[in-house]
Amino acid sequence: MSKAYPITDHFYDVIVVGAGGAGLRATLGMAHAGLKTACITKVFPTRSHTVAAQGGVAASLGNITEDDWRFHMYDTVKGSDWLGDQDAIEYMCRHAKEAVIELEHFGVPFSRTDDGRIYQRAFGGHTTNYGKEMARRACAAADRTGHAVLHTLYQQSLKHNANFFVEYFATDLLMDEEGVCRGVLAWNLDDGTLHRFRGHMTVLATGGYGRAYFSCTSAHTCTGDGAGMATRAGLPLQDMEFVQFHPTGIYGVGPLITEGARGEGGFLVNSEGERFMERYAKTAKDLASRDVVSRAITIEIREGRGVGPLKDYINLQLHHLDPDVIHQRLPGIAETARIFANVDVTKEPIPVIPTVHYNMGGIPTNYMAEVIRPTADNPDATCPGLMAIGEGASVSVHGANRLGCNSLLDIIVFGRAAALRTKDLVKPNTPHKDLNPSITEKALAHFDRIRQSNGSLKTSEIRLNMQRTMQDYCAVFRTEDVLREGIEKLDKIATSLAELKVMDKSLIWNSDLLEAFELENLMEQALATIHSAEARKESRGGHAREDYAKRDDVNWMKHSLSYRDESGKVRLSYRPVHYYTLSSDVEVFPPQERVY
Ligand code: FUM
Repeated sequence: MSKAYPITDHFYDVIVVGAGGAGLRATLGMAHAGLKTACITKVFPTRSHTVAAQGGVAASLGNITEDDWRFHMYDTVKGSDWLGDQDAIEYMCRHAKEAVIELEHFGVPFSRTDDGRIYQRAFGGHTTNYGKEMARRACAAADRTGHAVLHTLYQQSLKHNANFFVEYFATDLLMDEEGVCRGVLAWNLDDGTLHRFRGHMTVLATGGYGRAYFSCTSAHTCTGDGAGMATRAGLPLQDMEFVQFHPTGIYGVGPLITEGARGEGGFLVNSEGERFMERYAKTAKDLASRDVVSRAITIEIREGRGVGPLKDYINLQLHHLDPDVIHQRLPGIAETARIFANVDVTKEPIPVIPTVHYNMGGIPTNYMAEVIRPTADNPDATCPGLMAIGEGASVSVHGANRLGCNSLLDIIVFGRAAALRTKDLVKPNTPHKDLNPSITEKALAHFDRIRQSNGSLKTSEIRLNMQRTMQDYCAVFRTEDVLREGIEKLDKIATSLAELKVMDKSLIWNSDLLEAFELENLMEQALATIHSAEARKESRGGHAREDYAKRDDVNWMKHSLSYRDESGKVRLSYRPVHYYTLSSDVEVFPPQERVY
């Protein structure tokens, strides 16, 4: 073992990496099941990005409009543009009600109706009776739902005696010779020590990679570290070409203005004062699915009907609403608009543009959260000892496009599913097998290689090159020529990682070194995204090809898988979409034209 890096060992039944909503829901479920559980997180749990989720969590409680989980399943399949796995979507929508009631019992302070039930608001793409009327399905705690959920789950995890390792950064998976995950290597940012965490189950709950783009609603910490670790371990990433642009990020700065603002009656207006969404989505209008609204805004701007001196944004109008609605239901976005756009939403509109918000792609899993590592004869084969949940995973319930409020639902349903499955697979306190020292040596060699990087380019330079390339060449609308040019540029930028310079070699609170690891993880995901986007010759959900404008179910109703081969090249393959359900009394929803 390396003398330069003494290692502290920890032995647990379960290691959860990440303490956002998914990680905490899994942690609490594992600990509650009697499994000795460690949760490793690079930021303090309540600073995880779930804290920024605003509008709500979807569940067919039917507190305000009639509802049924089958309507929710239909909307989610349609929202996914038929790329979602229908078994997983059935599982999520069927369990949504109990998962939300459970949150209520854990202590989430939901807003209330006059008769004391959980308040629900309208959100894009959520309907009743299979598309006939808009549903009110988003269970909301004002416009700070993620904040309420995250704090509650953290408190519950502490109550169940989970062990937290806060401000520890996991650098690599420890995979044995048989391809079984045995834990992770992690770096304690606070004192510079290195730690080997052994677990019979490792759960990656490390979130999305919004920061691969120049402008996004994601926190600086959203670097998708689990997906980077998975790629280095030879595992595939799935459906990475599907990146969601939220229609209403604040122009020029990025912070999210919740879709709940339109759910409460707000609407979008172009420079001619027109409510243009009526032209693009006759029925749902401003509450069409996000990909539809983002494309509509982009077209309005391109055709010269954008607002402002450069005609490059659109207005979101709320000032026709009763100020009481804003104060009671949307206090957070009123504050955000004031701080970031200097706008009083009771008097004037907010300038907005489509902004990167969510990654539908990630580490492929089944509905029990087990990571999928396809073999030649089994596209659904799993990788023992490894799970992935939340935005960093691709279950796939969101397919080509996620509906708003299905992400908070995804994290609580599949966080819980991970714990239920692990309870079946792992007996508490099972002794750990010895690990071949070469496995840790490999992870240490990687750690040391990044730390000793001594080229000529700063992390921030390479990162900016990557972010601008993704923003300019892999955005809302895509074409072959632009994607090819983007690939050429990004491949070169990825190669420039060999010229990285980590200026500070210390091990204690070294954010220069931390950002180098994060950049490496982001780069893996950016490469997978742009290569998968170039290869997919159709338009589906968040992937809009101007040169292949139609969805092509015959050739492309399949998941993309992206690997990095030994030589560093991106290699793509495909696996079938799960076009079946879990229960014999639930039928699949066959593909249809997707209109709102
Ligand atoms: O618009 C929003 O409040 C975002 C919600 C979501 O992404 O689910």
